[in-house]
Amino acid sequence: MELIYPAVIIILGCVALLLFLQWKNLRGPPCEGGWIPWFGAGFEFGKAPLEFIEKARIKHGPIFTVFAMGNRMTFVTEEEGVNVFLKAKEVDFKLAVQNPVYHTASIPKNVFLTMHEKLYTVMKEKLGTSNVYQFTGQLTEELHEQLENLGTHGTMDLSNLVRHLLYPVTVNVLFKKGLFPTNTKKSREFYQHFQVYDEGFEYGSQMPECLLRNWSKSKKWLLALLEKNMPEIKAYRSAKDNPMTFVQAMMDTIEMEKNEQKQPNYALLILWASLTNAVPVTFWTIAFILSHPSIYTTIMKDISSVFGTAGKDKIKVSEENLKKLLLIKWCVLESVRLRAPGVIARKLIKPVKILNYTVPSGDLLMLSPFWLHRNPKHFPEPELFKPERWKKADLEKHAFLDYFMAFGRGKNQCPGRWFALLKIQICVILIFYYYDCSLLDPLPKQSPLHLVGVQQPEGQCRIEFKRRK
Ligand code: HEM
Repeated sequence: MELIYPAVIIILGCVALLLFLQWKNLRGPPCEGGWIPWFGAGFEFGKAPLEFIEKARIKHGPIFTVFAMGNRMTFVTEEEGVNVFLKAKEVDFKLAVQNPVYHTASIPKNVFLTMHEKLYTVMKEKLGTSNVYQFTGQLTEELHEQLENLGTHGTMDLSNLVRHLLYPVTVNVLFKKGLFPTNTKKSREFYQHFQVYDEGFEYGSQMPECLLRNWSKSKKWLLALLEKNMPEIKAYRSAKDNPMTFVQAMMDTIEMEKNEQKQPNYALLILWASLTNAVPVTFWTIAFILSHPSIYTTIMKDISSVFGTAGKDKIKVSEENLKKLLLIKWCVLESVRLRAPGVIARKLIKPVKILNYTVPSGDLLMLSPFWLHRNPKHFPEPELFKPERWKKADLEKHAFLDYFMAFGRGKNQCPGRWFALLKIQICVILIFYYYDCSLLDPLPKQSPLHLVGVQQPEGQCRIEFKRRK
């Protein structure tokens, strides 16, 4: 009896230790779950999602889970978690976005999964660094046409001005010259429907379409436009001397895989991806430059040294010119850093260990470029607009700064990033070359509601522009 008693204690102790170790091993990250079933923390999270993420990080540390609207989203905010997000074989991009793609563009999940890699390869190739400068001439020409429509002077909301330049330019360059409606009524309809579709995209990606009547109407309008014009978009390539456009290359790939009935749906996705982020980034770039007079003055001197007195001639922009206007590129990149997308997501297909926690399979692993860019360890004085921090990036070798994630990173990063940077740089150069500009309102705050994509300005910011003589 005397011997059995200590033995039982030892065995129980070992069992307890084993259970503790197992529990520790399987322990998930701390969770913000709210108390309402299924909704979880949905209400609080939805009110101001970016703020919610930061408060949860301060409360729980570098990894935490948010349970909202039936989804488990595990956020990683520091090195170890970021590395898993970018490199682990247990994370999957396609599975994370297949639902939003289905809701927003009606592309069935099986079609999306089978087509994704082939289409991504085409996009990477067509818009990659070795091909992207081919767009320089067309972008400049299209921007000239749109700037003509601006007239000699005026006052406009800066977001609207950027939309009126970049929507037609992007559609005509990537899809087909002349596709953007020139008729006033039709083009007004396009602006309205695209704006409704874009603004409702975040809700539309999660909720049944029948609950979002206006959004659904705009989605259908855009799909119908693309479907009606599909034969023309595809036929354009056969016309003499016209190289195949980016969208034609995509449509070809879809046709080869016998999914041509989904061509308008993919065209809608490309339309959205190519417009949604580029417009606010151009807005912020112009607004940041104009609210930093010494930077504006230096940029104007640079522009004059490359093209001669600003406003004098009709200019052509070349790759060589762009290389000499590095400060403008730094300003674009610094604006993307400061107003970066709220989150990017991956789906976990197997459990992963991060910082002593086990994150279960099925979780959405989330990374916030917006908050990562505010970590002073990686970006000193993170809240300041400091284009000169980009001096350290090896842009010649197409490398961004470490921990810059506005375009994602790794094998799923944005295939349109070089095209976006090119288009925005040329747009900023031409506006400043031809127009003397000033902001009539203070730099707006960013809207607190945006999680997907680049941060949007909250409210209006008017710009006054006067054609230089
Ligand atoms: C400044 C502008 C832009 C920003 C900040 C941006 C940002 C992003 C981000 C963060 C992602 C997700 C990456 C990830 O999850 O790791 C993405 C994906 C994507 N972007 Fe962009 N983007 C921009 C412009 C463009 C443009 C102009 C195009 C097209 C011409 C484009 C096409 C796409 C596509 C097709 C995807 C999905 C790729 C896939 O399915 O794997 N983007 N972008």
